[in-house]
Amino acid sequence: MSERLELQTESTSNTGFAPGWYTIAASKEVGSKPKPFLLNGLPIVTFRDSSGQSVALLDRCAHRNAPLSAGRIIDGNIQCHYHGWQFDGAGSCKAVPGLCGEPDHAARRVPSFACRDSQGWVWVYSEADVQPDSEPYEIPFADHPGYFTVRERLEMPGPLDAVAENALDVPHTAFVHAGLFRKNKDRQQIEVVIRALDGGAEAQFIGEQRPEGLAGRILAPQGGEVFHWDRFLLPCIAQVEYRLSDRNHIIATTALTPRTPTVTDLFATVAVRVPIPNAILRAVVKPLAMRILRQDMEILRRQTEQVARFGGEQFASTEIDVLGLRIKKLLREASSGRGSTAQEERRIKMLV
Ligand code: FES
Ligand SMILES: [Fe+2]
Repeated sequence: MSERLELQTESTSNTGFAPGWYTIAASKEVGSKPKPFLLNGLPIVTFRDSSGQSVALLDRCAHRNAPLSAGRIIDGNIQCHYHGWQFDGAGSCKAVPGLCGEPDHAARRVPSFACRDSQGWVWVYSEADVQPDSEPYEIPFADHPGYFTVRERLEMPGPLDAVAENALDVPHTAFVHAGLFRKNKDRQQIEVVIRALDGGAEAQFIGEQRPEGLAGRILAPQGGEVFHWDRFLLPCIAQVEYRLSDRNHIIATTALTPRTPTVTDLFATVAVRVPIPNAILRAVVKPLAMRILRQDMEILRRQTEQVARFGGEQFASTEIDVLGLRIKKLLREASSGRGSTAQEERRIKMLV
């Protein structure tokens, strides 16, 4: 074997939780009923206020701590199921049934989270009662003219960093997705440029020919060189971008939301521009994307179970694991409030 192997071992699995905007639901899922979710183990409830704006509160009534999500929405306020207290989208107490006096009192407030509808998804800022100085990530080319956009959400087994690594990992495709992308024979050598981004990291793959698998043949029947980037952006974006000639462009953006230490919600937006009619794309892209995601889900489930059986991660890596350890490092740094200690650009060779 002529390749130089750089072995690194990593025994810690706790990357912490990076503050920021996280996707929590599809916009159409949030309506006139309270919708509960977990953000890094924290119960939060989302609903629409009287103006139709999506809002998010801690899912704990200020009175006796019943889950607000068990209640209902009345005129844009959430009413607790236990004694009927009502809270508006900012968490202020608007009604205490039976109380002769003003319900709105600071001690009766429920913490609220900044919440936005953006590009078909509802996003929540992870810290309560703050006005974030940023907005949710803008997904490139979603619903852009000329692009066919598919959205899908799935519950993935595994911590955020494992799900992000899987989404951006080339070496598993010949095995987990055998026949769909690359094959484990007739490999070609390509160059990978790994670079730090502002709050993230990117791997650019240079010199790869259109993969021979089913996905490549459908999306680029004429073949040719593939321009391919994999990116991770704090706190939760994993993005795969392919360009083949001027006409074909595929960009799959997944927003990853840690529900618990071993379950991550995945919200995928796939924007496709290929010279194929939308009716055919509709019949092909979603089933294909779901097949790929289910294969990933199955290997992530097995990996997560095995890590748990052995009481934690004990990973060995080589240089072709281009983004996994960087994702862990970025998350660790962001969760502890440190800025990124970005490395220089690196170039490696890989057989794909
Ligand atoms: S616990 Fe919610 S009103 Fe009493
Ligand atoms: Fe995969």
